Amino acid sequence: MKILGISAHYHDSAAALVVDGLPVCAVQEERLSRRKHDAGFPLSAIEWCLDHAGLQPDDLDAVVFYERSMLKFERILTCALRAFPRSWSSFPHAIKNSLGEKVWVRGIISSQLGVPRKKILCTAHHASHAAAAFLTAPTRRAAIITADGVGEWATLTVGHGERKADGSTDITLLREIRFPHSLGMLYSTFTAFLGFNVNEDEYKVMGLAGYGQPTMMDQIGQVIRRTPDGAFALVPDYFEFQTTAGRSYSAKFVELFGPPRKPFDPIDPDTSDGRRFADCAASVQRVLEDTLVDLARTLHAETGLTDLCLGGGVALNGLANARILAESGFERVFVPSAPGDAGCALGAALYADRLYFKNPDREIPDHPFWGPAVDAKELARVASEDSQSVEELDEPALIDRIADELAAGKIVGWMDGASEFGPRALGHRSILAAPHAREMRDRLNRDIKYREDFRPFAPVTPIETADRYFELPPGGARLARFMSGVFPVRPEWRSKLAAITHVDGTARLQALERPMAPRLYALLEAYGRRSGVPVLLNTSFNVAGEPIVNRALEGYSTFRRCGIDALVAGQVVVTKRQGGQA
Ligand SMILES: [Fe+2]
Repeated sequence: MKILGISAHYHDSAAALVVDGLPVCAVQEERLSRRKHDAGFPLSAIEWCLDHAGLQPDDLDAVVFYERSMLKFERILTCALRAFPRSWSSFPHAIKNSLGEKVWVRGIISSQLGVPRKKILCTAHHASHAAAAFLTAPTRRAAIITADGVGEWATLTVGHGERKADGSTDITLLREIRFPHSLGMLYSTFTAFLGFNVNEDEYKVMGLAGYGQPTMMDQIGQVIRRTPDGAFALVPDYFEFQTTAGRSYSAKFVELFGPPRKPFDPIDPDTSDGRRFADCAASVQRVLEDTLVDLARTLHAETGLTDLCLGGGVALNGLANARILAESGFERVFVPSAPGDAGCALGAALYADRLYFKNPDREIPDHPFWGPAVDAKELARVASEDSQSVEELDEPALIDRIADELAAGKIVGWMDGASEFGPRALGHRSILAAPHAREMRDRLNRDIKYREDFRPFAPVTPIETADRYFELPPGGARLARFMSGVFPVRPEWRSKLAAITHVDGTARLQALERPMAPRLYALLEAYGRRSGVPVLLNTSFNVAGEPIVNRALEGYSTFRRCGIDALVAGQVVVTKRQGGQA
């Protein structure tokens, strides 16, 4: 059975293809359209998926949309009407958006793909998140928590899943919290208040939190009411996202937390405003973590299960994930490589396969590499045409050569095989560098990523050596498989790993098993032989404002525009020709 999953029209559109119960490929539209967080109908992603599998739209047994658009429309309409006349200015925008794109999604899919309407299904948004988290994890029974900004009405669900011995699958969502009460919206409100882009820059809030102290818990306690079991309600007076698209916090919120930060103002934690912003970030981070830990602890007691699967955009919060693992009682915590809405494309297809069509359970390969493969010949061609230095090396020579470059302080663009599905670079579209000196972090921020210097870079190390450099709790290595947890760097290593150690002594580690990315693993070993420390800085291969590179051509274009010294795809190594940048 061939099932296409689609996520679209909110942010991070994506398509995924499941054939005979297994993922074949999955890609975010932004990687192909080159528009960051592209929310449009993912026609390029769909075309690529079908092309990759050699299928025509006619061959599909079902196309599954990742949410119930009518229910979502009902929420938008209800909230707008409840707030009328206050919502009047945003009302036409909300309605037009829904009428134009979201509600009539069956018609859009049918007309774009030429697939009959009866083959088009919709799953509930959080069921898609739950399926993406549970069905891709190597576990047979697990509790499930999904949390995001909002889907149709639900913003958070708890439940459990089971892959049964008879091949059937069960996913039961026990309870949900509904809009406007939303942990994701609370965090996004602070994201906006702190002058960052909502639905894009939530991770900057987490980075900024490291500079602050949670001194504003009393104030936060006024905007979110919590119960010991993890349930919560936002106090509506402090928020406006439920009534208007343009502003997420109210005047009362500003009375409580002070004036918001202007987007282009610098953040200096040594000034009083800078400290206030960092403390705001630390405080909202703390309440997010506390609430999720309470929810997880309650669900652990209720289900008695040892495994927990986390889905939804909130599961990108690595600090919260690490605390859930350490404090909730679950022994293992699984977060997929794409827990956000893009991952719902895969989740929706898997949900339809197992739960709707009741196809038998299949073991899903435990890796994130479902996107387009890089073409080394393309890199060699464009670099030669551009008169850059191009070499083709056999594998041992290439690994040695790149390890030498890294040990000499060079920055390497590393493209290998199929691209990652999800927002993290996990070794197939990565920028790699030596992790030791703070200057390397500053150089990457200044010459390559063009971004704020308060944001940390992530390290990658073989799973066997992770414990030597990082304080991993039991189960921590699993969370670090897809860079889903933030853990302390061992104090004695912090100064020696200064480029990847955040101001609070932590790092968002990737603990790599050889079979997942054997070439990167070999490179880490070779680098370890040179430096004594098999750890590399691993950041996504893109510059600020652009999606992660996909094709060799995009990697090359990025390499030419910024301070990357060497570029690898397959067996091809490109270095900048001496004496000329242009
Ligand atoms: Fe979502």
